Amino acid sequence: MAPKANADGRTRSSVQIFIVAGLCCFFYILGAWQRSGFGKGDSIALEITKNGADCSIIPSLTFDSHHAGEAGNIDESKPKVFEPCHHSYTDYTPCQDQKRAMTFPREDMNYRERHCPREEEKLHCLIPAPKGYVTPFPWPKSRDYVPYANAPYKSLTVEKAVQNWIQYEGNVFRFPGGGTQFPQGADKYIDQLAAVIPIKNGTVRTALDTGCGVASWGAYLLSRHVLAMSFAPRDSHEAQVQFALERGVPAVIGVLGTIRLPYPSRAFDMAHCSRCLIPWGINDGKYLKEVDRVLRPGGYWVLSGPPINWKNNYISWQRPKEDLEEEERQIEEAAKLLCWEKKSEKGETAIWQKRVDSDSCGDRQDASRANFCKADEADSVWYKKMEGCITPYPEVSSGELKPFPKRLYAVPPRISSGSVPGVSAEDYEEDNKKWKKHVNAYRRINKLIDTGRYRNIMDMNAGLGGFAAAIESPKLWVMNVVPTIAEKNTLGVVYERGLIGIYHDWCEGFSTYPRTYDLIHSHGVFSLYNGKCNWEDILLEMDRILRPEGAVIFRDEVDVLIKVKKIVGGMRWDTKMVDHEDGPLVPEKVLVVVKQYWVGNSTDTQ
Ligand SMILES: *[C@@H]1O[C@H](CO)[C@@H](O)[C@H](O)[C@H]1NC(C)=O
Ligand SMILES: *[C@@H]1O[C@H](CO)[C@@H](O)[C@H](O)[C@H]1NC(C)=O
Repeated sequence: MAPKANADGRTRSSVQIFIVAGLCCFFYILGAWQRSGFGKGDSIALEITKNGADCSIIPSLTFDSHHAGEAGNIDESKPKVFEPCHHSYTDYTPCQDQKRAMTFPREDMNYRERHCPREEEKLHCLIPAPKGYVTPFPWPKSRDYVPYANAPYKSLTVEKAVQNWIQYEGNVFRFPGGGTQFPQGADKYIDQLAAVIPIKNGTVRTALDTGCGVASWGAYLLSRHVLAMSFAPRDSHEAQVQFALERGVPAVIGVLGTIRLPYPSRAFDMAHCSRCLIPWGINDGKYLKEVDRVLRPGGYWVLSGPPINWKNNYISWQRPKEDLEEEERQIEEAAKLLCWEKKSEKGETAIWQKRVDSDSCGDRQDASRANFCKADEADSVWYKKMEGCITPYPEVSSGELKPFPKRLYAVPPRISSGSVPGVSAEDYEEDNKKWKKHVNAYRRINKLIDTGRYRNIMDMNAGLGGFAAAIESPKLWVMNVVPTIAEKNTLGVVYERGLIGIYHDWCEGFSTYPRTYDLIHSHGVFSLYNGKCNWEDILLEMDRILRPEGAVIFRDEVDVLIKVKKIVGGMRWDTKMVDHEDGPLVPEKVLVVVKQYWVGNSTDTQ
């Protein structure tokens, strides 16, 4: 198309292209960020994406002008283009694939645990969004409404109709806030719990909901400033966890099976199960011992539904009296072995409390039966078998947690007690200062960060949780991921700040559905995984879990980002390289990305 020109003309026209293209891209990115996020028609987004295509030459141009010196020889070859996967992969979860699951034993729910594809089974294509996909409604509307097109499964509305979980209305699902165990709504139910558990004054901040359904409990706790990590297996009820994340509520796919939960010890202020179908009594209370591990001293465990109050309910539950009685006996026995104190039992809800330290458990159970785990293995969980042992209290009690929100910036007990090698209180303060500065710089780059446009946020390499603390707001929540290969195990610190997170190995698929995060922060991830596994796989996984028109902020060394930028050039992402806030001479740079809006083809329906 471009006419041949002499040297002069070429210079001038390339400057013009540069300016025009730069403006074009600027407005494009601005437009993409501003227009999306209101759950409106995808036609707008489509239009933007179409116009945006003309800008595809820009990013490298702007990049050149900033870094010509350091970049050395830029690899000019075309990036590899990744094609969309077949639309049957729209809801693909690599490590919870139904076909693969069926090849594993059902015993102890092993088949519902993580089983990731082998190297040669990995997909190398882009997971398509379903036709008609729209950006979810902004919070708090999203708590109650999810666009049908985003998770087009009506089976729950039929199966759980009487339980008031979810209703189908026109082109949206409505969540009335009911649950199997709270027919009067989650708020009323939480009020009942709050009569026993100090939910109101910030003592209880982090919670774990095991077998969460559509996470209404977690959704309604948010207005009380309690952050719940909910998990449920990927099962026949189609996509409960997906609904939770579409609603803007933290959740992951997970199950209590044979492997330890991917959370550190002493993390949660409260754990909860309402009719979660977890067999708490079996194997000498193996699963209760795991809950005990992740509960902080003084934390609470709530069980509502069977077998609590079975005498009045066994007929409606359609279960034999003897079974329920035996299950109750086993649970009480395990709780006694763990030295939990029963605080209340009312209706079908029972609440226990874990003792604050081992001394307050005077008449601990017959010690012969209490088999303790090794003290230094309390946080070693990744693919580690649950051994059915009791996690001992730490030798040095690390001190009281401040109530939230003071907890967010107080020095976490694990740091003040020196339990995180190489991290002092001063390092912690420094880290907080640094992240406040970085996040302020992000705010200048992307004005929408504080507006609620990004609700589900992931920090892929959270460190001490400084990013999440700096961005903290009731409009959003952050899944703080601590890579299993990270040099320092800091996830316990993250929880002590009143934030939530999970261990993960980025060489594998994350335990979530596609399109579940609005913003991903990737700090030092690619330096960390250099030589560990294929960067392409990590980036494709990021593309899978990122919503269309969602954003990624990479922060890494410039040479790392150049390689990343090249790979994502074939992934339908728009990119922009930005200097460190301290200027162009800092080798650490920031790469900002917006995933284009596109949906899969359903013309070739099976
Ligand atoms: C919060 O409430 C509980 C129970 O009422 C009380 O024991 C605790 O001291 C309170 N904590 C703070 C920080 O006010
Ligand atoms: C959908 O199908 C059409 C025609 O076969 C093709 O041109 C287009 O690229 C496809 N889009 C995607 C996202 O696969």
